[in-house]
Amino acid sequence: MKFLVTGGAGFIGSHLVDRLIRNGNQVSIIDNLSTGKETNINKNAKFYKLGIEETQVEEVFKKENPDCIFHLAAQSQVKKSIDEPILDATTNILGTLNLLALSLKYSAIGGKIKKFVFASSGGVMYGNTLKPAVEEKTPNPISPYGISKLTGEQYIKFYGTQYGLSYSILRYSNVYGPRQDPYGEAGVVSIFTNHMLKNEECILYGFGEPIRDYINVVDVVQANILAISSSNNQILNIGTGIPASVNQLFELMKIITGYSLKPIYQPLRKGELNKNFLNSNKAQKLLDWKPKVSLKDGIEQTINWFKKNIGSVK
Ligand SMILES: NC(=O)c1ccc[n+]([C@@H]2O[C@H](COP(=O)([O-])OP(=O)(O)OC[C@H]3O[C@@H](n4cnc5c(N)ncnc54)[C@H](O)[C@@H]3O)[C@@H](O)[C@H]2O)c1
Repeated sequence: MKFLVTGGAGFIGSHLVDRLIRNGNQVSIIDNLSTGKETNINKNAKFYKLGIEETQVEEVFKKENPDCIFHLAAQSQVKKSIDEPILDATTNILGTLNLLALSLKYSAIGGKIKKFVFASSGGVMYGNTLKPAVEEKTPNPISPYGISKLTGEQYIKFYGTQYGLSYSILRYSNVYGPRQDPYGEAGVVSIFTNHMLKNEECILYGFGEPIRDYINVVDVVQANILAISSSNNQILNIGTGIPASVNQLFELMKIITGYSLKPIYQPLRKGELNKNFLNSNKAQKLLDWKPKVSLKDGIEQTINWFKKNIGSVK
């Protein structure tokens, strides 16, 4: 099959591209490299350095005529969305709309986009959750990033009901794994790994108490692959449902890396939640998917990857 992956030079998108290519598919990538890296790009994929909101995206649709679109390109930093809400909306709302309009246009004139799979966020969609959030929980985003992701979802649903576009919306929890940017504001596993391996201090916001649901990128890729041919027109949480505090994560990573510095505690940052974890029963049922990588194994693999690549991670 022919796939278009937006954000295919980024952390999750590049793992998805690698898997699609390993499975024998043709893959093209649109990425503006704002946070993605050239070194992440699979050599067997066709790469278009473009913003998803740009008019030239149409040329890619014309040339590549994909069967399925995985839309992962996004402005995905909460702080940046607060500082630059227009930039956030341009990528996450207008960019998504551009891809939807082109999906429709090229389906109507003989193209054949069978599926539009969207990377949404369970981490920002529900606000604080006292128990694992289910998809029916009323969305309550508290940052422009959450608002733009929700708006993207709603446009996708509109294209589904109005024009019959098949979609799956996957709301990931906190994804971690190799290639995640250790210099971004989020991605606490890669940030701690980088600091621990260099014996630098780690800052634990919210005094280490915030609860998150850490899911390995391998499990997220698998959910995307399964969504190609199932769960049409559904919103699915993709998480482990296992809550872990930042303090617990820090302690686990300390043991694995042999780190001995004390944590630096600071209050929670603007737009961040105290507690968020997801119920993924619906994905387990409709995708026949289950997270397989334990937090300990996933963290060990991630740390080993960073140990080998720390010199080249900039
Ligand atoms: N990492 C997580 O924990 C997590 C959780 C929930 C949802 N998500 C979503 O998953 C997707 C991938 O996230 P990631 O963690 O791999 O982030 P990432 O920053 O590594 O990947 C995003 C990619 O999109 C590209 N991009 C950004 N703006 C663009 C634009 N206007 N046009 C074209 N390309 C653009 C970036 O260069 C980057 O390669 C995002 O949509 C994100 O919102 C991630």
